[in-house]
Amino acid sequence: SNAIEFAGDDMSEFRRACEKVKQFMLGDNELKTIRDRLLENMRRGLDREGVKDAKVARKFKINTENLNQIGSENPSFLTKEAILVKMLPSFVTHLPDGRECGTFIALDLGGTNFRVLLIDINEEQIDMDSQIYRVPQECMTGTGEALFDHIAKCMSDFINRMGFADRKIACGFTFSFPCEQYAINSASLITWTKGFSATGVEGKDVVTLLTEAVARRGDITVDIVAVVNDTVGTLMSCAFEDHACQIGLIAGTGSNACYMEKQSNITKLDGLQDADGKMCINMEWGAFGDDGALDEWTTEYDRILDANSVHPTKQRFEKMMAGMYLGEIVRLILLDMCKEGIVFTDDALPILETPESFGTHMVSQIVDNQPRHFAAVQNILACADIGAIRRDCEIVYMVCDAVSRRASYMCAAGISAIAIKIHQNRPDEYLDITCGVDGSVYKKHPTFAKLLKVKTNELVGLGIYVNFRLSHDGSGKGAALVSAVSTR
Ligand code: GLC
Repeated sequence: SNAIEFAGDDMSEFRRACEKVKQFMLGDNELKTIRDRLLENMRRGLDREGVKDAKVARKFKINTENLNQIGSENPSFLTKEAILVKMLPSFVTHLPDGRECGTFIALDLGGTNFRVLLIDINEEQIDMDSQIYRVPQECMTGTGEALFDHIAKCMSDFINRMGFADRKIACGFTFSFPCEQYAINSASLITWTKGFSATGVEGKDVVTLLTEAVARRGDITVDIVAVVNDTVGTLMSCAFEDHACQIGLIAGTGSNACYMEKQSNITKLDGLQDADGKMCINMEWGAFGDDGALDEWTTEYDRILDANSVHPTKQRFEKMMAGMYLGEIVRLILLDMCKEGIVFTDDALPILETPESFGTHMVSQIVDNQPRHFAAVQNILACADIGAIRRDCEIVYMVCDAVSRRASYMCAAGISAIAIKIHQNRPDEYLDITCGVDGSVYKKHPTFAKLLKVKTNELVGLGIYVNFRLSHDGSGKGAALVSAVSTR
């Protein structure tokens, strides 16, 4: 009666699939090691001495191959590498207090879409309208001038539609890439990440570039008063509603977090006025692991993904958990399994060999089913022209679940590091904080949010509780709030 179940040596193929998927399963001890390494990176990224060491290290061009051999438990591991978790000061020192007001344009560049928003903030109430514009591939990877001309064109289009063309209007710019800031309204791009690589922008002030592009058009008058990272925007807009919010997280196309740090801990920054004050730090945690700190958990699939990416060897932590990559990791695993005859037939090979053929939205759809409901999984695969029998569906489910789970657990390790860092400032008090979150993975993936919440609170230990709160349109609204604070 079990003739069908065991057709084709079912068990052995399933078992071989399990062997491969195993590498994606992280236990709590491993997650705690990751958490602690990130914590150490954070401390060094804020520290004057740490930053100095890193400059020396960079000069000597530390070879990551050697670092891997040194091994993680060796204390010299963390003193040798450059600062990778950049811990960038945002110059945002206050959370909104509900008294902000004004009308602002906000630009949101860096995720799946480019958005322009008109935001009216009035006594604890925010009204807004917005439009989504496409950023063509050739703008993302062409010249910086073309990219900023495109942004200015979309801005002008939107401002005209909203009937604001003859007014000078203040603008907040959410620019979701690592930037060195010296003030709230200037930000020099350190390096592109995700799918962007437009030339002539790295090392330049993006406010100047945008202001120049707007001036070239000459049909609108905008004053860019603030530049913020999307994590900072998310924290701001969440804090507007929830005063316990001290962390901002993006789990979307990219992955990154920010939090409110005590100014006295940011020793790399000279001349901070307010010893008791705080400043929001954009961690740029995506770059964690670029020195080999995550190599023990880096699979062959992660390595292939990295090698084929727009920025090889960069953003290793991000590549394990962001929406831009989850589908690709699944595709690479299935491709390998298909080649080895573990899953599907050779007919699926051409599809699995095509980059981006397995979107992160498919991973979400698949995990949204019970593993036993193989008909639903079969349909999703059929849409991608992949023919699957039940065993294939079960394997695909297992792969998607493992890749998703690793993503949320890695993210949980990151958030728990932040919570512990904040708690270290007041170790004698119970810490009950909120993390504001935005991003497609958090919003659309069926299990990510739940796993993130549970695992974070398992990893923080006693005396800390982290609450998560979705921040709708956080990154755009946040830029307007920062603008409001800075023009107050
Ligand atoms: C990338 C960017 C970072 C941004 C994140 C989420 O990691 O470097 O600045 O916050 O993506 O969009």
